[in-house]
Amino acid sequence: MENTTVVGIHKLELYIPDSYLTLNSLAEHHDIAPEKYILGIGQSKMAVPSPDEDVITLAANAAQSVLDSLTSQEAQSISTLIFATESSVDQSKSGAAYLMGLIDIQSNCRAFEIKQACYAGTAGLQMACDLAKTRPEESILLVASDIARYKQNSPGECTQGAGAIAMLISANPDIVEIDPERGFYSTDIMDFWRPNYFKHALVDGELSKDAYLNIMNKSYLNYIHKGGKSLAEFDWLCFHQPFTKMANKAYRHLKESFVDEMKDKTEASYAITQTYGREIGNTYTASLYIGLLSLLDNAEQDVSGQKIGFFSYGSGAVGEFFSGTINQNYRLGISTKHNKLRLSERHEINYDTYIDYMYQTRDVGQLEHIKSQSKFRFIGITDHKRVYQRCP
Ligand code: HMG
Repeated sequence: MENTTVVGIHKLELYIPDSYLTLNSLAEHHDIAPEKYILGIGQSKMAVPSPDEDVITLAANAAQSVLDSLTSQEAQSISTLIFATESSVDQSKSGAAYLMGLIDIQSNCRAFEIKQACYAGTAGLQMACDLAKTRPEESILLVASDIARYKQNSPGECTQGAGAIAMLISANPDIVEIDPERGFYSTDIMDFWRPNYFKHALVDGELSKDAYLNIMNKSYLNYIHKGGKSLAEFDWLCFHQPFTKMANKAYRHLKESFVDEMKDKTEASYAITQTYGREIGNTYTASLYIGLLSLLDNAEQDVSGQKIGFFSYGSGAVGEFFSGTINQNYRLGISTKHNKLRLSERHEINYDTYIDYMYQTRDVGQLEHIKSQSKFRFIGITDHKRVYQRCP
């Protein structure tokens, strides 16, 4: 008998660091025209984590916001905590295990971490949807958290960013119902990678852009082959955004490749998915879902009932095209006012502080002098153990 349980995203919360660097400042220090970053790359600010923040603290803040919004019955239903990241802090212990000690989550749940570059957030989402479909009484807390770090003075530097998204995935979700059809394409390429001994990623920029676009088309064709919707049926397109201009490229590529299906589409079908990403930068696993939140928070009209086509890309490489429908209760599952306030209340740091925060390694005692607004802080390493603190 067909399983008709509807599953998807029930809660969606964002956390970003307090500080940002403007791309104008970066351009000034690189002695290049700011238009290259603002228009050519499509970024205006880069979220910069302070030294007492890492992927665990970013994730803990986002996850706790989801937990704070749940009824006790909803909180009790969480059977699984999935942590998606490509800027992991340990080769063995998962980020999810660290979260178990920081956030208010019940202990009777399985907690683990998954990785495949930026695609891991989507791998987690689909895994969680399958679980909720077979066990509708259970829900899954999925956290996608990353700090995008490239070599100083490299072309990727202007696309850096940091942030986390936390989602509760469940049956009968308030925000987005995820369709069962999904199209995949995976291959082995070296377009972007981070060896274990490096803090920053390495990238072949041109190869990565081409791979993204080719794999998007192949993933969409596989999605159609499996009975998915035509591009013409979507009200919105939401692309993985390593920098917002990449979404423009993705849209144009679809327009050139699928002329009939895309003929009535305009740039308005994805423009508001870029609003947050432009101010934050690449957040790898979280980036696609920050695009979704940007749409939901910034759409002027009620978007319930509207259909979204998603493209998720993770270098290395894996692509997935999937789709969903916005539920009429979507506003109940998001914190629009809070998100907008968070973005507007961050403070600007100068170039020297940015270099210090992003590239300087500190000893334990030195962290005491730098306190972010974060509810959760990384306070140093003792006996090779990372130590975290929850602030009152
Ligand atoms: P670059 O090579 O220095 O830049 O770095 P460029 O020379 O290609 O210029 C960029 C754009 O600015 C161009 O526009 C220029 O024309 C324009 P385009 O041709 O692309 O439309 N431009 C100007 N515009 C206005 N006024 C000016 C001006 N000057 C130039 N004065 C690159 C670009 C993306 C390669 C670099 O930033 C990079 O390596 N980024 C990291 C890699 C990346 O983000 N790849 C994207 C696809 S892969 C992906 O999404 C996966 C990822 O998220 C990781 C994961 O999966 O884990 C990265």
